[in-house]
Amino acid sequence: MNENSAMRIEEGVSLQTYNSFGLPAVARTLVRIEREADIRKVVDHPDFGRAPKFILGGGSNIVLLRDVSALVLKVEIVGRRLVEERDDAWIVEAGAGENWHALVDWTLSEGWPGLENLALIPGTVGAAPVQNIGAYGMELADRFDSLDAVDLVTGRNVTLNAAQCRFGYRDSIFKQALAGKSVITRVRFRLPRPWQPVLGYLDLQRRMDETGIHHPSARQVCDWVCAIRRAKLPDPAVMGNAGSFFKNPVVTPEQCRDIIGRDPHLVHYAMPDGSFKLAAGWLIDACGWKGKQVGGVGVHDKQALVLVNRGGARGAEVLTLARAIQESVYGRFGIRLEPEPVVVD
Ligand code: EPU
Repeated sequence: MNENSAMRIEEGVSLQTYNSFGLPAVARTLVRIEREADIRKVVDHPDFGRAPKFILGGGSNIVLLRDVSALVLKVEIVGRRLVEERDDAWIVEAGAGENWHALVDWTLSEGWPGLENLALIPGTVGAAPVQNIGAYGMELADRFDSLDAVDLVTGRNVTLNAAQCRFGYRDSIFKQALAGKSVITRVRFRLPRPWQPVLGYLDLQRRMDETGIHHPSARQVCDWVCAIRRAKLPDPAVMGNAGSFFKNPVVTPEQCRDIIGRDPHLVHYAMPDGSFKLAAGWLIDACGWKGKQVGGVGVHDKQALVLVNRGGARGAEVLTLARAIQESVYGRFGIRLEPEPVVVD
């Protein structure tokens, strides 16, 4: 057996079922990463070592424009365990290839609550820190302990804490300085004890009022979050999509006041630093895009922030529609929407 025989290398692999948008693209070469050692083999490989690389997790936040000539590293590292039970927190670790929602569900079943607001987010554990996933008043950074990664140049293991990950709104060092340079292999979560529910989000307040349950369990919050998501967001297994297609833009108080002067119904949230975050979905909706379709790509009819594959969509069509939306929002509100998914060219 030679050095590479243990590495799972495949040629001409269709990525259509590996991206939640269901866009057609073929990877020239794909390596399945099942353990840290596989990454070191890639680094030491005579051809792969220096080749450009694309790291694929659950493929739920990417737009594939064409076939991928970079070496695709598909992260499939599994494993979940309780690392430590402290007085103030449970520390739980999961392999980067684990399904995100399965992790949330498992931690709740084991009696380690804390991730329930992030239930049903598509994708893998390893992709979660890359864009600092967030929903219903919580983001990954709030529950993060540390992560392990392997450097794609040196092959060395590194451990990063929260500050080193430089988490921002749907952002981290893995989308910036370390993009394509480092493979996340394991993530550890810090789930605070005693558990405190996070119920500030308007949609959750409504559930509390409707049900009369004002002290929900973590499982109850999880069920509410799942129901809210199912009502608004398309299931990628049924209708291809990449979640929110644009980030919610942050503007100055003057810009916010200016828009409200013309559109009093603008949905906006005050940020701790004095700026305002605007609901991009509302801006797009206000421009009349909800339910519209161009080629094989549509704007979801229940949440205008989500672009969906209505059948046979291609990556270029997704971008064409995204640009048209950006232009009309800019034309009416003077705001440039920034895409959330990574566009793979
Ligand atoms: N709205 C409209 N029309 C629309 C869509 C939204 O008027 O077509 C209004 C809603 O009525 C609401 C406001 O905009 O008043 C905000 O909508 P929503 O609560 O659905 O949340 P969002 O800001 O659109 C963000 C995240 C989602 C996350 C939800 C819940 C971003 C870019 N998106 O969406 O994250 O699930 O909050 O916390 O921050 C994702 O990133 O892929 C994602 C789905």
